[in-house]
Amino acid sequence: MALAGGTWPPLREVAGVPLPAATVDNWSQIQDFEAQPDDLLICTYPKSGTTWIQETVDMIEQGGDVERCQRAAIQHRHPFLEWARPPQPSGVDRAAEMPSPRVLRTQLPTRLLPPSFWENNCKFFYVARNAKDCMVSYFHFQRMNHSLPDPGTWEEYFETWVSGKVAWASWFEHVKGWWEIREKFQVLFLFYEDIKRDPKQEIQKVMRFMGKNLDGPVLDRIVQETTFEKMKANPMTNRSTAPKWILDQSISPFMRKGTVGDWKNHLTVAQNERFDEIYRQKMEGTSIDFCMEL
Ligand code: A3P
Repeated sequence: MALAGGTWPPLREVAGVPLPAATVDNWSQIQDFEAQPDDLLICTYPKSGTTWIQETVDMIEQGGDVERCQRAAIQHRHPFLEWARPPQPSGVDRAAEMPSPRVLRTQLPTRLLPPSFWENNCKFFYVARNAKDCMVSYFHFQRMNHSLPDPGTWEEYFETWVSGKVAWASWFEHVKGWWEIREKFQVLFLFYEDIKRDPKQEIQKVMRFMGKNLDGPVLDRIVQETTFEKMKANPMTNRSTAPKWILDQSISPFMRKGTVGDWKNHLTVAQNERFDEIYRQKMEGTSIDFCMEL
């Protein structure tokens, strides 16, 4: 339960990964989750474009029918596996009630994913976003999200984020983990920056991966409906249905900027140099390459 002033219990850890306390309390239910072979799992590190890919996948599933995508707020359309806030049903409870084929989502790193997803060779979407924009977005999200710790100043948050002391832990481990298994399992590995640059091409990839074939006008509608401007104005995607004592959009809107390169407005020259050095060390030996500006 929320405490007075909107302060929530501090994060706790599972195998070194900080997670909301209620998620940790519910951990055995999450690990025992029974995936089905036709489950589709949307996987992201926080603030990488989860809502964007969710809306895209749903629009494809609904054949471009805008009204059907209005049936519920985005956070209720795809069960969030590790979600727990008793007495509400947990993400696992919601998934169990959902008819197949299910679209689910998670922010877990590969090493914490319930084993049944690997055993059933499920399909995974992974959306990666460049580390600096992710950090900036997460900072503003923690400022307005009272279910996560107060981020402190930008200078303080920089240190917290690069050391992975944030919910769902280190961006570096998360991205590397999913990148490394992308060819061993059925992973459609997408980049936020690519979707921004050429949404139609990336949406077509998503469509094919889902085994769907939608005609040109439907595809064009999906491109239009999933722009930042449309999703910012859409109450079913902009999180305006969440109570202010959880998400205070007067501090920072959930649909904040939706751009590539906002990091340049936040990182000082010294922070940027330090970040590049940390990045080089942590990502050494990885072939992944990010676009930092468009
Ligand atoms: P910013 O804070 O940089 O604006 P998530 O859904 O994983 O929490 O990610 C949220 C980030 O994705 C926010 O980034 C949000 O604005 C951005 N976003 C959401 N929908 C988008 C869209 N249609 N186009 C571009 N960015 C989008």
